[in-house]
Amino acid sequence: MTVPIAIIGTGIAGLSAAQALRDAGHTVHLFDKSRGSGGRMSSKRSDAGSLDLGAQYFTARDRRFVTEVQRWQAKGWVAEWTPQLYNSHGGQLSPSPDEQTRWVGTPRMSAITRALIGDLEAHFACRITEVFRGEQHWHLQDAEGFTHGPFSHVVIATPAPQATALLAAAPKLAGVAAGVKMDPTWAVALAFDTPLETPMEGCFVQDSPLDWLARNRSKPGRDSHLDTWVLHATSAWSRQHIDLSKEAVTEQLHGAFAELLHSVMPAPTFSLAHRWLYARPATSHEWGALADADLGLYVCGDWCLSGRVEGAWLSGQEAARRLHESLQ
Ligand code: FAD
Ligand code: NAI
Repeated sequence: MTVPIAIIGTGIAGLSAAQALRDAGHTVHLFDKSRGSGGRMSSKRSDAGSLDLGAQYFTARDRRFVTEVQRWQAKGWVAEWTPQLYNSHGGQLSPSPDEQTRWVGTPRMSAITRALIGDLEAHFACRITEVFRGEQHWHLQDAEGFTHGPFSHVVIATPAPQATALLAAAPKLAGVAAGVKMDPTWAVALAFDTPLETPMEGCFVQDSPLDWLARNRSKPGRDSHLDTWVLHATSAWSRQHIDLSKEAVTEQLHGAFAELLHSVMPAPTFSLAHRWLYARPATSHEWGALADADLGLYVCGDWCLSGRVEGAWLSGQEAARRLHESLQ
């Protein structure tokens, strides 16, 4: 009987590794603490339709990722988003069109990882608390006290702080992951009955608590009957207000939005706030992935590269490549 490979994390890095390993003939079992896949590319179902609270769109610059995104497009999992872009600088709002191609999952961001899971074996609502080695193989302990295994190798595809906690068996790798600082992002979604009077569909913001805002409904395939918006605070503002209540965060970012539009904004008919504790690595790295091939432990995620969707996908490919090569 073949002993499967365990992958912890069903974000885009974990699924990228899973696909590559399966294509190379391996059996993989996936684990995620959340109820669904996607991690920071997940979408929240709500009374205002489904909302992309994490990754807003992604760009493809590396040739390998460009090819992969074309494959996703052919399958209908992604589509191009061509928002009317603005820039807000020193309180001045101005159109800021460009030629960049931007992709989104359709009909929601999480459609991509959901499709990539396909028929792979995945355990959700399963938080792994320990990765340990038996005589020959690896085992995973979860928060409910259950043990999973045996596994021939383990790929850890979580944000760096969560990877550190799982790397007790590999102190060197744990040390590297522990050195990666990840910044938080507060995200707020607002929905209005009457569409706001602005042609803006996306805005890069400076000199404000806000960093970015998007008209969620302007993305292809979204079906909300309301005018939905997603606002992201800057890392600095999010850190300063990390323990503020969701109500207070919503109020403050709603206020910053009104200030940016120079208008009295109606009260939203729906709002929600989400705190991403490990939203983005404070600096980017060029590790590709981390590995201890002798032990059979691999680590990947956006923080091993650019801190973007593309970096996370490439990191998953790199972890899979190194694992597969160690067996040749
Ligand atoms: P994640 O998506 O974080 O996946 C890790 C998974 O591991 C999660 O599903 C988590 O539940 C699971 N997990 C963690 N610990 C455990 C455990 N102990 N046991 C089991 N499971 C566990 N990128 C862009 O390219 N463009 C953007 O516009 C953009 N905007 C962003 C906006 C926000 C607010 C945020 C938060 C991120 C944004 N990003 C953007 C970054 C992008 O989302 C990430 O780079 C990418 O999704 C990271 O993928 P990943 O697989 O490395 O990690
Ligand atoms: P991109 O090329 O669209 O944007 C990169 C950066 O260039 C933007 O942040 C913005 O500062 C600037 N920019 C691009 N087009 C612009 C325009 N038309 N007008 C004014 N400024 C413009 O996309 P890329 O390189 O794929 O980056 C992904 C985006 O995801 C970035 O905006 C990044 O800030 C964001 N991100 C947010 C995270 C969070 O936690 N909030 C985490 C990771 C990424």
